[in-house]
Amino acid sequence: MHFELTEEQIAVRDAARDFANMELLPGIIERDNEQKVDLSLVKKLGEMGFLGMMVDPKYNGGGMDTISYVLAMEEISKVDASSAVIMSVNNSLVCWGLEKFGSEEQKQKYLTKLSTGENIGAFCLSEPEAGSDATSQRTTAEDKGDHYLVNGTKNWITNGGISDVCLVMAQTDPEKRHKGINCLIIEKGLDGFVVGKKEDKLGIRSSDTHSLMFGDVKVPKENRIGEDGFGFNFAMTTLNGGRIGIASQALGIASGAYELALKYSKERSAFGKPISQHQAIQFKLSDMATEIDAARLMILRAAWLKDNGKPFAREAAMAKLYASEVAMKVSVEAVQIHGGYGYVKEYHVERLMRDAKITQIYEGTSEIQRIVIARDLLK
Ligand code: CAA
Repeated sequence: MHFELTEEQIAVRDAARDFANMELLPGIIERDNEQKVDLSLVKKLGEMGFLGMMVDPKYNGGGMDTISYVLAMEEISKVDASSAVIMSVNNSLVCWGLEKFGSEEQKQKYLTKLSTGENIGAFCLSEPEAGSDATSQRTTAEDKGDHYLVNGTKNWITNGGISDVCLVMAQTDPEKRHKGINCLIIEKGLDGFVVGKKEDKLGIRSSDTHSLMFGDVKVPKENRIGEDGFGFNFAMTTLNGGRIGIASQALGIASGAYELALKYSKERSAFGKPISQHQAIQFKLSDMATEIDAARLMILRAAWLKDNGKPFAREAAMAKLYASEVAMKVSVEAVQIHGGYGYVKEYHVERLMRDAKITQIYEGTSEIQRIVIARDLLK
């Protein structure tokens, strides 16, 4: 076992760090206040190769490993967790799923543009009445011979407003329960496809989250991913990879908050010395650093397993469960160390604290991660 990163992995991490500090940090407070997705920044993310990092270069991707991806995710998330979720959904849920399970025609038509950021993708599983209970899909894809007729509503869709291509789970044969679900590639602009309201969120406010409505949307049969009834399996397998991305986002939020708290603790004096010299603060910093390290190791292990073709669902769920709990705890402590300054926007830690919460909810709540882990332990 060795813990050293390769030169390429270090270069990717450093490029992401520079990009985050030079391009994403300026204006971050305003974008958060205004809930603004800056499309020019999304375009730059694509130009830097951060939107299709793991895709084979023959489909215009970066051909990188999952370890490079999680390193980049951590660096981007330290500064801007909103850009990180745009990146995570496009890389791990959309590009990875399409590359692993899509047909050659689908990859040529869609993946080649998604991996560069020319197109942006969304992953549409959640519904008003099917969040954690994802097998209870109400959206239907009626088989009409050469096409499907799609009807229903998807909720809380990351990139819902800015996406060009959506991977939509829909029920074709309710009697077969989850084995009757299909995943369809649905392009924006089709008749009957309506982008619903934008959600006003607690955190990750400069990413967009929408509901999407489908009313008799005609989707060609060739846009189905995999065999008839493969959609739920597609969603679950893709989410296993996605959970490594969200774990890395949580890690980045935690390490960003910790670094700000560490710096502040050396600069701020109270009772005649820097607050970093008080044991109450030292104990907090020690716990934060230890838990961040543990989360990082769990994420790197899950990424390594994935890169080496080994089962990784349990380890991804563990990494996401743990890293998201650490993000919440560390960001709250970072605000506490900053005192009153931590409660105002200028010091960035209150935003990281708000951003942290969603990592315990999306791509499977902490409770769902425990179910995934327990089922794997007990099988
Ligand atoms: N990996 C692979 N397959 C899995 C799996 C996993 N982690 N978890 C479940 N499955 C498979 C099961 O093996 C089973 O398949 P077979 O019948 O072929 O054996 C099938 O899925 C159904 O599983 P269960 O019988 O266990 O069904 P269940 O209803 O009891 O539990 C669940 C399923 C695990 C709770 C699942 O519904 C789940 O993961 N829910 C959470 C959904 C989720 O993560 N949503 C996130 C939305 S996407 C998002 O947030 C993106 C974004 O925009 C940021």
